[in-house]
Amino acid sequence: MICLGIESTAHTFGASIIESDLDKTNYEKATCKILSNEKKTYTTTSGGMIPRELSEHHYKHATQIIGQSLDVAKINLKEIDLIAFSQGPGIGNALRVGANTARQLSIKTNKPLIGVNHCVAHLEIGRKLCAAKDPILLYASGANTQIICYENSYYRVFGETLDTGIGNFLDSFGRNLGLGFPAGPILSELYYEGKELIELPYTVKGMDLAFSGLLTAATRKIKEVERRKIRKEDLVYSTMHYAFAMLTEVTERALAHTEKNEIVLGGGVGCSKPLQQMVESMCKDRGAKLFIPPNQVMVDNAAMIGWTGTLMYKAKVKTSINQSMILPKQRTDDIKVTWRK
Ligand code: FE2
Repeated sequence: MICLGIESTAHTFGASIIESDLDKTNYEKATCKILSNEKKTYTTTSGGMIPRELSEHHYKHATQIIGQSLDVAKINLKEIDLIAFSQGPGIGNALRVGANTARQLSIKTNKPLIGVNHCVAHLEIGRKLCAAKDPILLYASGANTQIICYENSYYRVFGETLDTGIGNFLDSFGRNLGLGFPAGPILSELYYEGKELIELPYTVKGMDLAFSGLLTAATRKIKEVERRKIRKEDLVYSTMHYAFAMLTEVTERALAHTEKNEIVLGGGVGCSKPLQQMVESMCKDRGAKLFIPPNQVMVDNAAMIGWTGTLMYKAKVKTSINQSMILPKQRTDDIKVTWRK
């Protein structure tokens, strides 16, 4: 069974070919071969993502990326059995390009269409590639920050950000500090040069988190860096330490509450070594297992859409053209997970 996955929730337009024998076997035994995972990412030197430019970027590259994905996989469009696309959540202008492209291909090839939830797809690709049985997903990306796990036919959100996603928080802090975009890799380098922990706000409300207070306080401290009262490295170390500790605390409480013992990382911030080390240390203390998928499937990618589409297709989920409208505000816990028992 061959699935073309299309991802376009935000800055990345991606296309992937997934080959699986799931139609002939069960989930545990089924293969998930990523034959290709191509993408083009919209970047700016300043000002963040402009929705109109974002859709122009995706429309400009959609045909090329899908063609590249087929070429790399050595697959002909006629050999595709189904077409999966990211239906939500995300930025409307970006989502619309992926949905339109998927609809057109579905009509042209007469192959079924499947709308996939982007956050659920992060969990499913991590679960499969890491062979985790029933993991909690710590999903830390630019726009999304959620702790998700399976309970009674739904992926429940056990904790999430109340304001900005952790990636956007780190990028805003990096921008205020005069770093380029994306700031994450430079911040991680500075983190390891930090020595002293500076006191900053720590905001965990129940199982949820908020980063705006931390951003305001850390940004104010930049003046002290300029006056050479504190070191830039110490401010970066402290800001990231507080943010990651908040995430780790909520993740640990989700482990305790659900009595699960596996964590899988997802999202671009999941690639951050300081975060990985902090979560790993917590897992070690609790006797839980941490799974870190390859970076290419932690950042936004179409392989996870193709794989989740394959799972949904096996469970007889299909999306008619009339049902294929984009869902920019779709929630992780809106989706009935009929493909898991
Ligand atoms: Fe994502």
